[in-house]
Amino acid sequence: MAEIEQLPLLAATPAAWVDLVLADFGTFLLDHACCERKAAASALSFLARNSEHPSVVETMVTLAREELDHFAQVHRLVQKRGLVLGGDSKDLYVNVLLTAVRNSPNERLLDRLLISALIEARSSERFYLLAEALPSSAEHELAAFYHMLYRSEAGHYRVFLRLAERLFPAVEVALRWQHLLRFEVEAMQSTPLRAAMH
Ligand SMILES: [Fe+2]
Ligand SMILES: [Fe+2]
Repeated sequence: MAEIEQLPLLAATPAAWVDLVLADFGTFLLDHACCERKAAASALSFLARNSEHPSVVETMVTLAREELDHFAQVHRLVQKRGLVLGGDSKDLYVNVLLTAVRNSPNERLLDRLLISALIEARSSERFYLLAEALPSSAEHELAAFYHMLYRSEAGHYRVFLRLAERLFPAVEVALRWQHLLRFEVEAMQSTPLRAAMH
């Protein structure tokens, strides 16, 4: 577990989550596809709302491409299994996290960057847990894919955090980061475990 320890999260996902996912992998896959599509859309909306910052624009173009590529790969798995993508489902965990976003334009940007970093870090942790459990499951051929996603989302967590550090004073970022790290644990622990990303 040495690699996973590099993630900043203050509490681990309960082991029961992996069991729920492996017991209903089709349901998980549909939700996973949905999350990748939402991540691509959210990168584009970040870009649209903050286009006066060239660093935000460049970062979000790359990120949107990567998330869309993740979506395309998960979508191929969905199709291979004869499953059908649904519409948006409510993401309680993300909705709770977003209640921490403050109102002024600057605070809003900082909060959204840090919350995005946290969502990426939690996704990364969960992909890692899955990649570790997959080899001894019926879905063993997907272990390498989820290991790749674990690395990719860990990269995204660092991208969002670095962007925040580039745009805001270090002390302000550090203070808010510590607060939101604790809040993320509350959001994670108040979300019922299910065969879904969150
Ligand atoms: Fe992704
Ligand atoms: Fe990501």
